[in-house]
Parts: sequence; structure tokens; C-alpha cells
Amino acid sequence: MPAPRILVLGSTGGLGRALIRRLAPQHPLTALTRTDLDLERPEAISDQLSRHSFDILLNAAGLTSPDACEVQPEKAQLANVTGPQALAEHCHRRGARMIHFSTDYVFSGAPHDPWTEDDPTEPVNIYGRTKRDGELAVLKASPDALIARVSWLFGADKPSHPDQMIQRALQSDDLTAVEDKTSVPTSNADIAGWIHHLIHHPASGLLHLCNSGTATWHSWAETALQIAESLGVPVKTTRVRPIKLAELTQLKAPRPLQTIMSNQRLQALLGSEIRNWATALEDDLAAKFQPK
Ligand SMILES: NC(=O)c1ccc[n+]([C@@H]2O[C@H](COP(=O)([O-])OP(=O)(O)OC[C@H]3O[C@@H](n4cnc5c(N)ncnc54)[C@H](OP(=O)(O)O)[C@@H]3O)[C@@H](O)[C@H]2O)c1
Repeated sequence: MPAPRILVLGSTGGLGRALIRRLAPQHPLTALTRTDLDLERPEAISDQLSRHSFDILLNAAGLTSPDACEVQPEKAQLANVTGPQALAEHCHRRGARMIHFSTDYVFSGAPHDPWTEDDPTEPVNIYGRTKRDGELAVLKASPDALIARVSWLFGADKPSHPDQMIQRALQSDDLTAVEDKTSVPTSNADIAGWIHHLIHHPASGLLHLCNSGTATWHSWAETALQIAESLGVPVKTTRVRPIKLAELTQLKAPRPLQTIMSNQRLQALLGSEIRNWATALEDDLAAKFQPK
């Protein structure tokens, strides 16, 4: 059987690029940018998709900054709800599968066991609300779609929290990070590998895609600094002063505190254990800092 043809949206983003790197060698793959298809212009989406041949659409595009969503709720609604709904309607009409990426920020952040796919959503900001509404809209329009919720992404293509902390530690030994916010840092490259599996072993509905283990922004930062130091990066410190989320008064959107997701369903689908985020981070930082 020929390999399914893939269409990737969000191809300039951190996750989109990791998906392309992993899937393009084995699949006919088309990567679209915002110029090719703008989720904020849902009326044009069906026409634009009609120009391309594909069996599976991966939607890694969206308005992903909670603060940007909070100050531009109309844009967030279009990019995270109305646009994805139009994608799903088109996929359903032509018999293509859609894999739509969502977030741990659909959960309230209240103290809880790891959140499972069966737990109720209760977003605390506009980003989370529009992503949750996007999930519902996609599943309504295309019941075979897969909603892949991910959390705290890191990887090769876009600087995230560990990269920013390492950059700061090259300049200063006085660093702070939030200690009362927990989730699961997750490798974009690992997600791309799981998506490769899910392309060949289809699943639908809600699915949490995250590495194993848990972290705070503080422990994620200190782990990144320790790995960087072990790789010979001249960081000035591996110690980070813990602060509370409430001290970050510049944030425009409230953040949920505890959004650790369970990856049990994913492990069952993969038939293998999922590695810890810290091991994945070691690989990521080694690729960035080890001499070639
Ligand atoms: N990053 C995280 O820690 C995190 C955590 C949980 C969930 N997620 C979810 O994971 C997915 C991927 O996130 P990411 O970190 O890879 O995002 P990202 O790096 O911010 O990339 C977002 C992508 O969406 C595109 N985009 C934004 N608005 C668009 C529009 N109106 N029309 C078409 N394309 C548009 C961007 O294009 P431009 O380059 O043109 O802006 C970019 O390619 C998203 O669904 C996000 O909600 C991410």
C-alpha cells in the first residue's frame, strides 16, 4: 500500500517543523504556511485545501500564545476554532483524516491526579477556551479526527523555556523560574515519532501526547542548566531562584497551575513505554551543544 499523503499546517512552527523532518522522508508531504492558508480567513479554506492532494491533514497551526489570545480574542476564535472547524468539514467531505493539535491548557489547573482524556475541561483563559472549543468543533465536523493534546513543547526549531534559561545563564547567575506550576515538558521530535505510529495505526477522539515524568518551570530550568553544564556550555549557574506564578505580574492571561496529563492511553496504543522528558531534553541539548 502506498504511504498516505500528508498535508502539514503550521509548517513554520516548532512542532510543524519537527513533523515535517520526521515524516517527509517516508511520505509524500505538502507543507503549507500562513500565506498559503490563513486560519483567520475560514471562508477561503475549502478552496485552498482543494488545490492539494492528501490523505491526512496535520494541523499544528494556531494562535499559540496565551497572552496574544487574551488581548486578541477575535483572532484566537478564528485561528483556534472557526478555522480548524473549516479544516475538519473539508476533511470529512473528502474522506481525509485530520489530526488536530491541542493543549493541556484545556484543563482548569486545579490540584488533580494526572488529567486523563475522560476528565472534564475547564479552561481558565481565552487560549485554553478557544483550543477546547476548537477540539469540540473539529470532532463534531469530523468524528474520525484525532485530537492530540500536547504540553510544554521543546525541540530543535523554536527556542522554548530551557533554551531561554540557558541563554540567560550565559549572561547572569541570578535566575528565577516559577515553582508552583506543573505539567509535562514534551519533545517535539518524540511527538513526531508518535504521530508517525498513529498515521499507520489510526486512532480517533481525544489523546494525550506527552513524555513521562512531571516538572515545574523551575525544575525544568534547573535540569536544562545541569545538562548544559555537563555538555560544556559555560553557564554561570545551574541554580535558579524559585518564585510563585503570582509574581509574574506582566502576564496578560491567567495560567492554569496543574495540567499534568496522563499518557497511559498513548502508551497502550504504542505498546511501549514512553521515555521521561529529561532524557528527551538531554538528546535535544546534546544535538544543540555537542561539537559536530
Ligand atoms: N508550544 C507549546 O508549549 C504548546 C503547548 C501546548 C499545546 N501546544 C499546541 O501545539 C500546537 C503547535 O504549537 P507550536 O508551539 O509548534 O506553535 P508555534 O511554534 O507558535 O507555531 C504556530 C504555527 O501556526 C501558524 N499560524 C498562526 N496563526 C495562523 C493562521 N492564522 N493561519 C495559518 N497559520 C497560522 C504559525 O505561522 P507563522 O509562522 O506565520 O506565525 C506557525 O507556523 C498548537 O496547536 C499549540 O496550541 C503548544
